[in-house]
Amino acid sequence: MKVTYYGHSCFAVETGGKHLLFDPFITPNDLAKGVKVDEIPADYILISHGHEDHIADAVRLAKRTGAKVVSNYEIINWLSGKGITNSHPMNIGGHWFFDFGKVKCVNAVHSSSLPDGSYGGNPMGFLIETGEGNFYYSGDTALTYDMKLIGDYKNMNFALLPIGNNFTMGIDNAIIAAEFIKCDKIIGLHYDTFSYIKIDQNEAKEKFSRAGKELHLMPVGSTMEF
Ligand code: NI
Ligand code: MN
Repeated sequence: MKVTYYGHSCFAVETGGKHLLFDPFITPNDLAKGVKVDEIPADYILISHGHEDHIADAVRLAKRTGAKVVSNYEIINWLSGKGITNSHPMNIGGHWFFDFGKVKCVNAVHSSSLPDGSYGGNPMGFLIETGEGNFYYSGDTALTYDMKLIGDYKNMNFALLPIGNNFTMGIDNAIIAAEFIKCDKIIGLHYDTFSYIKIDQNEAKEKFSRAGKELHLMPVGSTMEF
């Protein structure tokens, strides 16, 4: 699976020839100025919760690409009011089979209002199973004991976790999360974008490596194979 990082919590995974784009927040992100939002391919857009820093470019991208948007019921409803009708509503605990594989929605401990103040339902994480492997994107979340269920459920090739602290778990809790989900390859998200979530990248990598885990802090616009 090919992972491309677009800054903050926005990334894409290419698997089985399909492009899955997660939490599009690019044009308002000063750290993602080099990303050409109108050239990003997407067959699916998955949105973990309603906050601006996860949904800002969703309508623009969905309209251009015609991608199917997958999110919670409330967010899908809100997007349909903006003309996005190729969509699939889900909620925590449910799974669905798409042409690239299986999506299971899991608990995230956070909040989820939409940019205009509308109710954004509950925040979610996604477990994705494909023919090429499995991965977990936790969305914005605290460390939660529920993550142990994920560790007992499926082997994950890699996981994407927030590490910026303040609004989500920070580095130390993300290491415990990696232990709970039994995954040694972690891609860090949700750090350095704003003043509240600045991290020391070297310290973060050292802490993960002392715990026997790899932390990947991908440069914006870069792609890695997992
Ligand atoms: Ni959030
Ligand atoms: Mn966020």
